[in-house]
Amino acid sequence: MIGSCNLDLVVGVEHVPLVGETVLGGDLHRITGGKGANQAVAAALLGRRVAMVGRVGDDESGALLREALEAAGVDISGLLATPGVPSGVALIAVQRDGDNAIVVSPGANGRLTPSDLQAQQIADAAVVLMQAEIPLEVVTEAARMARGLVVWNPAPAPEQVPLELLDLVDVLVPNQTELALLTGHRGPVDLPMAAELAMGLPCSSVVVTLGAAGALVVSGRDVVHVEAPVVQPVDTTAAGDAFCGALADCLVDDPDLVAATRWAVRVGAATTLRLGAQPSLPTPSQVELLLG
Ligand code: RIB
Repeated sequence: MIGSCNLDLVVGVEHVPLVGETVLGGDLHRITGGKGANQAVAAALLGRRVAMVGRVGDDESGALLREALEAAGVDISGLLATPGVPSGVALIAVQRDGDNAIVVSPGANGRLTPSDLQAQQIADAAVVLMQAEIPLEVVTEAARMARGLVVWNPAPAPEQVPLELLDLVDVLVPNQTELALLTGHRGPVDLPMAAELAMGLPCSSVVVTLGAAGALVVSGRDVVHVEAPVVQPVDTTAAGDAFCGALADCLVDDPDLVAATRWAVRVGAATTLRLGAQPSLPTPSQVELLLG
C-alpha cells in the first residue's frame, strides 16, 4: 500500500453546510483515517499481509496514525516521519443520512517523493494498491516499479492524470464522479454511460463503484453489474476504502474480478453501519454479522 494517513476530525450534522452557511453539529470525534491507511487496515483485517508506505508528521497525530496501523497488523517500516510538517488532517461532516462532505489538508502526505519508494519492496508485492491523496508522480513511479497487479483508486479525482499512469494500471477503481472527471465527461453518469466511459480508458479493467447500487465491472467489452446488499447507513466514510482493500485482498489469490467485486461490495456495505473510518472496517466474521 502506498498512500495517505489522515487524522479525521468528524462532526455529525443535520445537513452539510452550503457556501456561506454555518451549521451546529454534535461532539467532535478524532478518528484515524486517510484513504491509504484505511485501505491498508481494511485488507489487513481481512487477513492479508500488508505493508504501508507513506508519510506522517512528527506529531501526536502521526503517533496515533502509526499506532492504529500497527494495531491492525500493518507493517509500518515504510511509514516515514516528516519533521516540521503536520500529519494529514481531514475535516468531515457526516449527515444524518450517513452521507458526508470532506476537506483534506494533506500535510506530510504531500511530502512523499519517488525517492521514498523502495524498488525491491514494490517489485515483490503481489498487489500494489494506491489512491490520489499523495503526489501523482509517486503513484506513477510506484506503478513503473510494480511487477504484481497495480490497482489504483483515483480518489480524490486529480485534475490531470498522465496517460502513462493509466496505461500502467491493471484495475482502476473510480466512483462515478471520478470516472466523469478522468474522462472529461460532463453530465450524469448512469450505468450505460459508466460502461461506455470505462471502455474508453486504457487500463485493463475498470471497477466503477456505485454506492448503494453496488459496482460495475468492465473488462474489455464485458460488463457485469454487481448489486450491493441493502443497508441503512450510519456513516458512509471509508466504504469505498473498504471496497478497495477487499478487492485487492481477493485479487492476490484469484484474478476473478467479478468474484472479488461481489465480496468487496459486502465489505463496503458493512463499513457503512458504524461511525468513522478505521473503527468501522470489518473482519470477515463482522461482515456476516453486520449484514445478517
Ligand atoms: O475515504 C475516507 C477518507 O477520506 C477519510 O478517512 C479521510 O481521511 C479522507 O482521506
